[in-house]
Amino acid sequence: MKSSFAATFVFASSVAAFWRMPCRSQTGYARIDPLVNPGSISDHVHAITGGGNFGADTDFKKLTASDSCTACAVTQDHSAYWTPAVYFQYKNGTTVMVPQVGGMLAYYLYYLDNVKSFPEGFAMIAGNPDTRNFTGPFPDAPLSSWPTDPTDQFFLQQRALGFNCLNYAKTPEASLYRHTFPPKEYMDANCKDGLRLELAFPSCGKEGVLDSPDHRSHVQYPSLVKEGNCPEGFDVHYPFLFFETIWATNQFSGEDGQFLLSTGDPVGTSYHGDFIMGWDSAEFLQSALDTCKSPSGEIEACPLFNIQDDADAAQCTFDMPGDLKDDDCHGPRDGLPVDVPIQYGPEPASQYKIAGASGAATTSIPHTSAPQTYSQSAVSYSPADAASTASAQGGIVVAMESAAGSAHGYGKDTEYGAARPSVTSAPSSASASKDSNAVSTTTITRGNEVIEMVIEETEVTVTAQPTAGSYEKRHLEHHKHHHHARN
Ligand SMILES: *[C@@H]1O[C@H](CO)[C@@H](O)[C@H](O)[C@H]1NC(C)=O
Ligand SMILES: *[C@@H]1O[C@H](CO)[C@@H](O)[C@H](O)[C@H]1NC(C)=O
Repeated sequence: MKSSFAATFVFASSVAAFWRMPCRSQTGYARIDPLVNPGSISDHVHAITGGGNFGADTDFKKLTASDSCTACAVTQDHSAYWTPAVYFQYKNGTTVMVPQVGGMLAYYLYYLDNVKSFPEGFAMIAGNPDTRNFTGPFPDAPLSSWPTDPTDQFFLQQRALGFNCLNYAKTPEASLYRHTFPPKEYMDANCKDGLRLELAFPSCGKEGVLDSPDHRSHVQYPSLVKEGNCPEGFDVHYPFLFFETIWATNQFSGEDGQFLLSTGDPVGTSYHGDFIMGWDSAEFLQSALDTCKSPSGEIEACPLFNIQDDADAAQCTFDMPGDLKDDDCHGPRDGLPVDVPIQYGPEPASQYKIAGASGAATTSIPHTSAPQTYSQSAVSYSPADAASTASAQGGIVVAMESAAGSAHGYGKDTEYGAARPSVTSAPSSASASKDSNAVSTTTITRGNEVIEMVIEETEVTVTAQPTAGSYEKRHLEHHKHHHHARN
């Protein structure tokens, strides 16, 4: 018994390692996708962050060129990270981009053993912009009943998307709990603090293979999405890359209409994301993976990282190509940019002709009236049960809670209540106003062990500067190990 306990402990502490890369601003929003549409125009709008040398022909060399800035906090990371943007379409067809809150968090987690750096020139896409259905029970069956053989990659890809209903006054939902947009009425009633979109990337790769024609088939999910068995022939273990972006869907509460991804998707299952490795070198990323194993996930805990503040990171934007300048990605505008047809599924979306330069509308698919009567499969939604979350659901980030402006913003649940952090005061600048205090609880599960962390976040917006900047402090407040009884 003694030896098995010790082994478990070592295993758990290696699994606990991760870091959370904040990329607090976008380098831009544009119909650009250097992987899928190199040198030309993408068929939908992306929210893009990371390296500033981003464009239709971006690659590792360009991202890491000496003149390339980064919108991420660690200046050695010029990787390109992008996802579709989220829109709201009013009943009359007027469409606006939903404001993004706090940029992207890109997690690098080590779930598989012997984690290797992404090689220079590596790129990948997770998810599929054509998918319009979710096939499965909701909520997911317990992980223990999932196939241990990862041959069904579509099954895993569907479960690699998360639509996390944020309500800081309630017990948080698990990450990757639901895999479609919740119905609008449910969001109005429950998601008072917006929606967090989550995307898990495959972490099983092939030695020396940097990319593939579809940018997907050179990487595969392990059998439980984030961990488990890699498919045969995919023996290289990459970090488990996980994107989180929060969208202020709550600003449209009570409005008649529908949420859409820029792909023309009201379902959500077309959510996807792209990554081009742009760390200074594969050697540097490898040494970071080997060295930076703080269970806090704080980038500040890694001695190798050079960290810039959010105001400097926010200066980093890419040059908008002239032929996309008139796209009007934000709206309000009539329909999605640029003339992307709304396709409800469940069959895969049809290809449409990419609208031309300067916003010229050339889609070949007729518009359906918006919003069309669309009913999601009859599933009842309820917040995840925290206990089952920890043992079966396997969330990356279980909570994003706010202590600000609410007497019970945090800590109704006694377990979380015990971890209630103190609020960090804003810097003593007369021009600073405190925006929010958010707390993130991270749970990492392996076997019978659950490691839980609560992180406080204080965001301060400085308004008196010529360029408004956002500063933030994160603190590890609590670190708790549960050792469940072993049999
Ligand atoms: C559509 O409705 C929204 C919300 O009421 C409104 O803001 C917008 O101006 C309307 N658009 C048009 C073209 O009337
Ligand atoms: C569900 O989506 C997948 C991927 O797009 C597709 O292959 C499949 O045909 C769809 N199922 C149905 C019932 O349309």
